Amino acid sequence: MHSDLSLIKNSAFQGIYSLVGLAAVNFLLLSGFCLLELSDVSNAEPSVPVSADNNAEILLLVWHYSVRRPRDCWESFQISGCTITGDRSMYNKADAVLMRHRSVITAEEAPLPPEPRPPAQKWIWFDMEPPTKAPRLWEYEGIYNLTLNYREDADIFLPYGYLIPNILLDKLTPARFAHPLNSSSDPRPGFVVWVVSHWEDRLERVHFYKHLKEFIKIDIFGQAGTSILPKGKNNVIQMLRQYRFYLAFENSQHTDYITEKLWNAVIGGAIPVVLGPSRKNYERFLPPEAFIHVDDFPTVQELAQYLRKVRDSPSLIQMHLSWRKDYSVYMTLLWGEIFCTACKAVRMRKGKIDVVKNLTAWFYP
Ligand SMILES: *[C@@H]1O[C@H](CO)[C@@H](O)[C@H](O)[C@H]1NC(C)=O
Ligand SMILES: *[C@@H]1O[C@H](CO)[C@@H](O)[C@H](O)[C@H]1NC(C)=O
Ligand SMILES: *[C@@H]1O[C@H](CO)[C@@H](O)[C@H](O)[C@H]1NC(C)=O
Repeated sequence: MHSDLSLIKNSAFQGIYSLVGLAAVNFLLLSGFCLLELSDVSNAEPSVPVSADNNAEILLLVWHYSVRRPRDCWESFQISGCTITGDRSMYNKADAVLMRHRSVITAEEAPLPPEPRPPAQKWIWFDMEPPTKAPRLWEYEGIYNLTLNYREDADIFLPYGYLIPNILLDKLTPARFAHPLNSSSDPRPGFVVWVVSHWEDRLERVHFYKHLKEFIKIDIFGQAGTSILPKGKNNVIQMLRQYRFYLAFENSQHTDYITEKLWNAVIGGAIPVVLGPSRKNYERFLPPEAFIHVDDFPTVQELAQYLRKVRDSPSLIQMHLSWRKDYSVYMTLLWGEIFCTACKAVRMRKGKIDVVKNLTAWFYP
C-alpha cells in the first residue's frame, strides 16, 4: 500500500523545495537547457559537440516544406545566422537539408534530394512521432548526418516541452513564450478528465481507461468523447482548469516520448496521471510529486482510491502542486523551432563530419 508520500520517497528529488537556485537545474534536465544554449555545452554527450563559428551563415533547406510563413529564427528564438527555406532550387547552396521521416516515406515524388550531395552538406533526419509511427527506417540507413528528435540522446534534442526554473527565466531567450505556473489549489468542480481524439481499442491507454472507469467517474472530451471541447485557442487548457486530474496517456510507450498532453495538464493546473514511459523517465522532466504514474499502484483500483483521496485532501493537493510556484513551462513551437534548432546545430558543427551510425538500432526499441 502506498502512504501519501510514498510517491516521492525514493526519488532523487526529495527536498526539491529547499533546492532553490542552480541545484534545481539538476532535475530540470540539463539538456533542455543545453538546447537553448548549445554553444555553452562543449561536453554535452551525446548531444552535438560544439564549435562555435559565430560568423557562419547557414542556409537550411526543409525538403518537405509545408509552412506558409516561415519563422524568423532571430526574431522568434534569438538564433542568429540562420536562414530557412523550402525552395528546392537552393539545394546546391544549402549547408543542410532537413527531412521529416514521415514525409519521406509518404512522398510520391522526390522523397529525398538527389545524390551526389554538395560537399559538406549535412542531411538531418527528424520525426516527432514514436517509433511505432515511423516505419521503414532501415531503408534510409547510411545517408543522414544528424538526428533531431524528442529523445534526449538524439544529436539534436528537442522535447515537446520542459520546465524552466523561474530564477533562470530571464536568462533564457524564448522566455516570453513560457507559461508561469500557479501553485494555487483553487477548488475545481471537475474530478478526472481525459481528452481523446484517436480511439483504438487495441491501445493500452484505452484498456486502462476502461478499467479505471469501473471505479471512478471520468469525463471524456474530444472526437471519441461524450463532451465537445469549446472552440478557440487554448481550449484544452481552459477546460483543464476545471479539473483536478488529467489522464495524460500517451498513445504508445517509448523512451522520452512525453508529449504536449502532459504539458497541457501542467499548464492547466490539473495533476497529470501519466501512462507512457517509466516513472524514472518522467522524473527527468518533472519533480516526482508533480505527476501520478499509473505504475505507482499495484492495481487500478488502488490508483482510483488514491485519486479520490487526493481530491478530498487539501494537504495532498498542496503536496502535488506546491512545486509549481518556482517553475514555468515552455512548449516547443512546431515547426519553426524544429527548423531553427536544426539550423543552429548545423552552425555549431560547420566544418565537421557527422555520420548517423545506425538509425534503426537507435530509434526502435
Ligand atoms: C492563481 O490562481 C488563483 C486562483 O485561481 C488566481 O486567483 C490567481 O490570480 C492565479 N495567479 C496567477 C498568477 O495566475
Ligand atoms: C554526411 O553523411 C554522409 C553519409 O554517411 C557522409 O558520406 C558525409 O561525409 C557526411 N558529411 C558531413 C558533412 O558530415
Ligand atoms: C542496424 O541495426 C539493426 C538492428 O540492430 C541491424 O539489423 C542492421 O543490420 C544494422 N544496420 C547497419 C547498416 O548497420
